[in-house]
Parts: sequence; structure tokens; C-alpha cells
Amino acid sequence: MELHPRVKPHLSEIERIMQDELGKEEPRIYGMLAPFLKRGGKRIRPALCLLSCGAVGGKYEDVLQPAAIIELFHNFTLVHDDIEDDSQFRRGEPTLHVSYGIPIALNSGDALYTLLWNKLVSLRLPPSRLVKLEQLYAASFKRVVDGQGLELAWIKEGRFDVSEEDYLAMIYGKTSALMGLSCEAGAMIAGGGKRLRSALRDYGEKIGAAFQIQDDVLNLTGDFEKYKKEIGGDITEGKRTFMVVHCLARAGEKDKQRLTAILSSHSKEKADIDEAVGILKASGSIDYARKKAEKLVKDAKKRIGSLKDGDDKTNLLAIADYVVNREA
Ligand code: IPE
Ligand code: IPE
Ligand code: MG
Ligand code: MG
Repeated sequence: MELHPRVKPHLSEIERIMQDELGKEEPRIYGMLAPFLKRGGKRIRPALCLLSCGAVGGKYEDVLQPAAIIELFHNFTLVHDDIEDDSQFRRGEPTLHVSYGIPIALNSGDALYTLLWNKLVSLRLPPSRLVKLEQLYAASFKRVVDGQGLELAWIKEGRFDVSEEDYLAMIYGKTSALMGLSCEAGAMIAGGGKRLRSALRDYGEKIGAAFQIQDDVLNLTGDFEKYKKEIGGDITEGKRTFMVVHCLARAGEKDKQRLTAILSSHSKEKADIDEAVGILKASGSIDYARKKAEKLVKDAKKRIGSLKDGDDKTNLLAIADYVVNREA
């Protein structure tokens, strides 16, 4: 996705801030994190933070550190998420726990988490503004962890009575909260009022939910070369995705039984994964998920319709379309 040329140097600066931070630390503890970040990643959250700041009249320079902190938190969640999900690939390369073992990967996630809090409490802002920002970050981080925990609990407890509302509440935690934070923090630091902050937050949360649904679709139908995570991993993990929830509410008894059996077995067999994908396709669940994601994007765009026209708004609207059109 092409961002307007003014944004790019600031995203590079955010990369530099993150690498500098890691470079100062003990290599045996932090050494695997710099290359993990250098694998890339879409950097959608820092881009949202910069653009939201710009859209309400702020300077990109003022949100470089806050945006870097959010991207560090995102990377922390990825390291731990891959342990929780026992995923094999991240950004096209083996996950950290596959390369270094669980104890070291776990601690490197903790190391990132500690580092980002140190950065957050050290931001140069007037104390009362800093406390407000810290509260915003802390509340959003908690929602991510709660969303993650809820999803893991459903699998652990073998629950299949998950409704669309339950699923949406879970992804509004694990994924939307951080995208909403990226937008709201940008607007807040730019001095935006309550109405603008809440419009951008809602926009961020809605595109976050659409982003997650599209991620779940790509997990079943995507191309590893672009998606860079193992295709079908969500079936092996037994995830209750939007498609699974839709299918279980509509499919016939035989399909329902097969789908729940495959999801509960945590099978890595291609034949099982293909069969589950076949059931989801036949029930129209993948198309239904795509439509839901498109509707969320439409609502998100509406939410920022009244922002002042300009490059930042144009890019925010383009990011909204990108989250459902992406293949990577
Ligand atoms: C991955 O997020 C986790 C989800 C919310 C699906 P991204 O797809 O933004 O990950 P990177 O940073 O681009 O690798
Ligand atoms: C995404 O989790 C949300 C977080 C990492 C907090 P998933 O488990 O759905 O995402 P991927 O597919 O591993 O990136
Ligand atoms: Mg995962
Ligand atoms: Mg997960």
C-alpha cells in the first residue's frame, strides 16, 4: 500500500528509533529482536498514528516515539502469540520460539514489553498529559491481552457455542484495541478534541476488526509467499474464527460434527485442513466473512468522513480499503 511521500521518512525514523533502542541492550537477551523487527511487517499501526496526528493538524515529529512504542508492543504480542498458538512462521521465517526455544523467546517478549514501558514513562510530555497517555496505552494493552486470553479459553474449554457477537468482542480486544490506540494517541498528541479523538478511535477499531477477519480469510485461502504465515494454521489451532462461528450456526449436522472434530483434533494433516476449508467454503462462510469485513470498512470510512480533507485523510481512507484487499 502506497502512503504519500511525506509519511515514508517518518516511518523510517520510527524504524531507527526501535533499532537504536534494541542496539543499546545486552545482545544475549535482546539480540534476536533487532533481526525480528528487520524482517519487516506492514507497520500499519505506526502509519495510523502518524496519519491520525496529521489529520487533526499535528506534526508527525511529535508522534514518532509514541508510534514506535505501539509497534514495539505489537511485536511483543507477536512473539508471545506465536508461542501461545505454536505457530511455525512469522513474516516468512521461523518463529522465535522455533529458532531459540520457548524460554528464550518468552523472555525476549518480556524484554520488549519492559523496554516499551520504560520508553513510555520517559516520554517528554507535561506530567498530566503523560499520565493521560499512559492510561490510554495501559487500557488498550489490557484489552489486547484480554482478547487473546478469551480466544485461548474457548479452545482450552472446547467451547463451540461462540456467537458472532462473542467473536467480534474478542477481536475488538486482540486486534482493534491497538489500531484504535494508534489513531487515538496520534489525535491526542496533536491536541485533537474529544469528538475527533473518538471518531479516529472508532475508525481504527473498525478497520482493526476488518483487518482481523481478512487475516482469518487469508489464513485459509491465502498464498504463503505473500501471507508469510502457515496457511491453514487457524484450523490446526482450532480457532473459532468468524467463518467457523457462521458455519456452525448454519451447516447440517454432519458438516458441523466433522468441523468441530477437525478443530478439536489440532490436526496438521493437509487432508483434514482441506476438508475443514471445504466445509467452510460450502456453507458460504468465507464470502459472508468478506462481506462483514467490507461493511466494517464502510462504517470506518464514514466515521472519519467529517475530517478536514487532505493527504492524511486520503491515506486513512486508502488504508481502510487496503485492510480488506490485502493479500499480505
Ligand atoms: C498480525 O498483525 C497479527 C494480527 C492482528 C492478525 P500484522 O499483520 O499487522 O503483522 P505485521 O506487523 O505486518 O507482521
Ligand atoms: C492476532 O492474533 C492478535 C495478536 C497477535 C495480539 P492471531 O493469532 O490471530 O494472529 P496471527 O495469525 O498469529 O498473526
Ligand atoms: Mg497467532
Ligand atoms: Mg493468536
